Amino acid sequence: MTEATSAAPAFSPRVFSGIQPSGNLTLGNYLGALRRFAKMQDQGIETIYCIVDMHAITVWQDPAKLKQATRELAAAYLACGLDPSRSILFNQSQVPAHAQLAWIFNCVARMGWMKRMTQWKDKAGKNSENASLGLLAYPALMAADILVYHATHVPVGEDQKQHVELTRDIAAKFNNDFDTPFFPSPEPIIEGAATRVMSLRDGTRKMSKSDPSDMSRINLTDDADAIAQKIRKARTDPEPLPSDLEGLKERPEARNLVNIYAALADTTPEAVIAEHGGQPFSAFKPALADLAVAHLSPITSKMSDYLGDVSEIDRVLGDGADRAHAIADPIVAQTRDIIGMVRSR
Ligand code: TYM
Repeated sequence: MTEATSAAPAFSPRVFSGIQPSGNLTLGNYLGALRRFAKMQDQGIETIYCIVDMHAITVWQDPAKLKQATRELAAAYLACGLDPSRSILFNQSQVPAHAQLAWIFNCVARMGWMKRMTQWKDKAGKNSENASLGLLAYPALMAADILVYHATHVPVGEDQKQHVELTRDIAAKFNNDFDTPFFPSPEPIIEGAATRVMSLRDGTRKMSKSDPSDMSRINLTDDADAIAQKIRKARTDPEPLPSDLEGLKERPEARNLVNIYAALADTTPEAVIAEHGGQPFSAFKPALADLAVAHLSPITSKMSDYLGDVSEIDRVLGDGADRAHAIADPIVAQTRDIIGMVRSR
């Protein structure tokens, strides 16, 4: 055993999460991720947030649009309250340790694990022979993102839970294969009323930036009129809101709007039903639209302010990358020692 493997490391709490720069950030990204990331800065834990451009290219991206989307996402992080003096914010491709550890994890993870991932099945669809190899290996890169910082907590929306569980499996297999407790077993943090914001057109489907219908989602770049119109036109059933949560069980669209309201108002669905139960949607939807506009308008306007100074965004990302390197590089070096790669310098 090398020196690096002899002592069981104590893992201090560290948060890591990431978002793909693939355009059209949605209310789902905001409530399920961005807003929670900013709040975690107040919990006295080290926080590291990433723009995962290497994940984005698992499907083809127009180069100019990728650059634009990367800076837009950086602006969104900042507009949602991420403070680069308290958190590390950077884009993945600037820290090669992610790709280096991902390769090692490609050799630890099993093909069967990858093929079981629901996101792989959804995205590759029937034409999986034609999907990129990167799309299949995607969760191993995600495991590397997390474990290259020995992160212990991973705030995500419901749809990423399976990938964080796979990260735990990769960590456990590595530790077992090399007989050392080197990697932590990170916890997914999935909390609040909006861990799975659904489409405004179909309450059984996730709100997604890739949905062909723009009316299905609220984008962080939508103006007040667009937000109000999308909520007004959101699909619902003809019944008024029920008087208890039980009454939302078979009503996915109504439940979704109640959950969105609760998340925006920082309260619980129970409290929303206590206040609005019995109301028709003609009364509830305008209240929800006002809340959403009051919440999102300042973010949209801050985003465009940040985007007015691209060189400052690039400076923040570069500074974050330097700080990320300092944590990740020694962990990759130790990983190489553990698996028997010669280090001459
Ligand atoms: P991505 O870019 O699809 O989404 C970013 C974050 O937003 C959450 N989210 C939602 N939450 C609630 N309701 C929705 N409708 C909704 N849509 C998206 C996602 O759960 C996610 O938290 N693979 C990841 C990015 C990633 C990552 C990581 C995350 C790469 N490496 C390491 C955590 C740790 C992804 O594609 O997320």
